[in-house]
Amino acid sequence: MKKFMVPDELQRDERFTRTAVPLDFLMAEEVTVEQVEETMMNLLGNDEVRKMMEDGQATGGAPNVFRRVRPDEDDAPVFLKTQMHGIFIGEMQALEAAGRSAWDFTDDDELPWKFQLDMARQCWDETRHVEIYSALLDHVGGEIGEFSENLFLFEFGCSNDPAERVVGVNRCLEGLALDVFNDTIRFGKQADDEAIWRSVDYVAADEVTHVRFGQVWSKALTENDPDRRKKVVAFQRKVDRAFSLGGLRGSYDGANTEQFLPLAIEFRKLAGFTDEDIADVAGAGPKVVASK
Ligand SMILES: [Fe+2]
Ligand SMILES: [Fe+2]
Repeated sequence: MKKFMVPDELQRDERFTRTAVPLDFLMAEEVTVEQVEETMMNLLGNDEVRKMMEDGQATGGAPNVFRRVRPDEDDAPVFLKTQMHGIFIGEMQALEAAGRSAWDFTDDDELPWKFQLDMARQCWDETRHVEIYSALLDHVGGEIGEFSENLFLFEFGCSNDPAERVVGVNRCLEGLALDVFNDTIRFGKQADDEAIWRSVDYVAADEVTHVRFGQVWSKALTENDPDRRKKVVAFQRKVDRAFSLGGLRGSYDGANTEQFLPLAIEFRKLAGFTDEDIADVAGAGPKVVASK
């Protein structure tokens, strides 16, 4: 079986469509507010969401989408479908990425067997998560393929160095999952929807373990090799920036509960993040400037 697959080689059935990954935007050191809105709409939106935004121009338009939604709002059902579909896709790509990590490095004699075991354990979990989110998508009235897929998550999980691989997949992809899940649990509790908050809480417990794999292995594999560690940390900064989604995410301090997708500090600490790691992620975004 082939090793080191590129994102374009991921296979899907006819229900799925794809949007290109906005790599230039994700890697930019400076972005404008318009670029952030436009890119996020392309990544997350379908016609229904776009229409809702156009209708909402008077009350805020695009910025209206990038805020925390409450269950009693008219737009809540469509936000929820977007969210569940996005996570469902993310779980599939996490499964594919962890599967690649388990298989790609089997020729590497220096890699402890436990690495492959951890990645295999992750695959086992992710298959369950795909099933759970497929059911949750049904639960909120959504359908597979209703929104376009982009391979943004998998894109950063393709490094040929296993230490970088776990940074991309486990620290960054799975770390973002913790933030999204934390927000979805909050939403489910506000909506008094037990199916949502209990299921997501159950999945989040697995994700903490997956993020921990990233924290532990990226350090263990570079322990006696300062040059390699430097390279891995540089890669980590790059991916942290991409996963800041144009600097949209911020840290949650209790006072800014309206902020779009705050970092899940409690979950991240359970997964081995130090205060310094959290500050790195919170500060990783590009400079966001007003339109030119
Ligand atoms: Fe997962
Ligand atoms: Fe995971």
